[in-house]
Amino acid sequence: MLPHLLIQQRLQAAVNTVLPEADAATVLIRPCPDPRFGHYQTNALMGLAKARKLNPRQLATEVIAKLEVAELCERVEIAGAGFINFHLKNSLIVKTLETAAEGKHLFFAPTVAPRVVVIDFSSPNVAKPMHVGHIRSTILGDSLARLLRLLGHQVITDNHLGDWGTQFGMLIVGWKAILEPASLQADPLAEMERIYKRISGRCDPEKPGFDQATLDRARAELVRLQSGDVENLRIWREMIRLSQSQFDTTYGRLGVKFDHTYGESFYNPHLKGLVDELVQRGIATESRGAKAIFSEGSLPPKEDPLLVQKEGQWIPNPFIIQKTDGGYNYATTDLATLAYRTDTWKADEIVYVTDGRQQLHFRQLFASFRRWHPEARARLAHVWFGSILGEDGKPFKTRSGETVRLSELLDEAEERAFRVVSEKRPELPEIDRRAIARVVGIGAVKYADLLPNRQSDYIFSWDKMLALSGNTAPYLQYACTRIRGIFRKGGLESNGTGTAGTTIILDTPPELALARHLLNFGLVLEAAAEEYRPNFLCNYLYDLAGHFTAFFEACPVLKSQPAQRASRLALCDLTARVFRQGLDVLGIEIPDQM
Ligand code: ARG
Repeated sequence: MLPHLLIQQRLQAAVNTVLPEADAATVLIRPCPDPRFGHYQTNALMGLAKARKLNPRQLATEVIAKLEVAELCERVEIAGAGFINFHLKNSLIVKTLETAAEGKHLFFAPTVAPRVVVIDFSSPNVAKPMHVGHIRSTILGDSLARLLRLLGHQVITDNHLGDWGTQFGMLIVGWKAILEPASLQADPLAEMERIYKRISGRCDPEKPGFDQATLDRARAELVRLQSGDVENLRIWREMIRLSQSQFDTTYGRLGVKFDHTYGESFYNPHLKGLVDELVQRGIATESRGAKAIFSEGSLPPKEDPLLVQKEGQWIPNPFIIQKTDGGYNYATTDLATLAYRTDTWKADEIVYVTDGRQQLHFRQLFASFRRWHPEARARLAHVWFGSILGEDGKPFKTRSGETVRLSELLDEAEERAFRVVSEKRPELPEIDRRAIARVVGIGAVKYADLLPNRQSDYIFSWDKMLALSGNTAPYLQYACTRIRGIFRKGGLESNGTGTAGTTIILDTPPELALARHLLNFGLVLEAAAEEYRPNFLCNYLYDLAGHFTAFFEACPVLKSQPAQRASRLALCDLTARVFRQGLDVLGIEIPDQM
């Protein structure tokens, strides 16, 4: 068992003895933020003490008295307001590196409690190009899926395509009246967007081009589609097919795959029954011709998503599940989707990755679902993210003010990376430079998206994300190719098996620092999964590159004495393996050369 897991287990056992009624599973350890204080740390006792009105340092003392870690730790100390710091024995660090070199683990272990986790991400809308808002969902969601799978959970990914709704009335009017087949063939999404914009402009009473007759036609086409008109169904299916094929091109470039693409329309057969049931059970009520779920007043108003404050008063903010015209909406579909996922897949956890503007929707959804299915135990999480801004600090747009299309963004990333690579390696044949540029360009875009705290907005800067120095994908990719270079130079292979049986020697501070950092890999993966934050892993890998550079500058590898050479090569190999695994979790490839 890995040291951090062993220590955590012993710590939980000690907490159990001292506070038998506490939930010891919440007592976790993390890497120490400052290595001078130790290797691992826990702050969990302070929370336990606070909830019980105990003195936290006193509680820590009692827990340490029951803690059996003598063969693992050199020292265990109480610090600050009640932290416990653990100093590992050097011999244990060495042993852990040696077992990793034997290929027994890579500093992490599969979870002992695997969950069925559904991840709902990307979810673009049919007949509209994917834009930068969907890029973060796609990249973040894919990375979370990779991370949770690596840790042994059963992950089900579902692309909740927006393939139903009132926009199809307008799209069908446009398709029948103003579609240009040649444009449709050349760029289907652009043509569908064009007809949508033209017709929706005429359907909006607020806009100067408003035309009542067009609005009436759009409504009629929608009703016809909903009641199964053959021609309208054919057009609708064609729009989905064309959109899906363009989305698939983008997913292919990003290396993103889904287990399912159950669009919103998949749930149509469930909607009527769902609304009937909610009304019958008194969970939804009729209000001015619509049906909606209102607050039942069991939460403090501040925490109740079904209330909103207006002019100092708390007033209803209902979750509408059937509109006055009888139509169902986003809310109805999402309730049906949730029920399907808990029933069919027996999900233990459902994760939604969308931008922050949908926070209220998901809070209302989760609260409504709990009332509908009070027995459901699934953990529901809205993993939301901020906006991407241009260098002027305003929402990221093209020069002409249009929203940026994801496919064009990826083109530009590859083109710019190609220029950088061509400058650095003019001697390489173009085909090689293109191959490197693809991996570097796409990697840079992904990393720029994953690195910031997801809840803050970030400024999109080509120069920053493509820089070869600083916390960027190209910097990490370069660090990996550098390690590969060491092995190539020594005529050796770095495949994770060449270093088995090596005795690890940690003589110098840079070697020890690198070793300690390698040991933290598992803890960082666990923390990133727990909080749905791949940025923890980005920062870990960036620090790994720093530790590796310091080690490599201070410690000769190929030119040292045989025993030291073997140990240092093993350190290089372990570093390369952690890089590969870590970048793979981020969905980032490594070029063969750079
Ligand atoms: N299609 C939506 C959008 O583009 C995102 C859907 C997210 N998933 C969900 N189950 N609501 O904003």
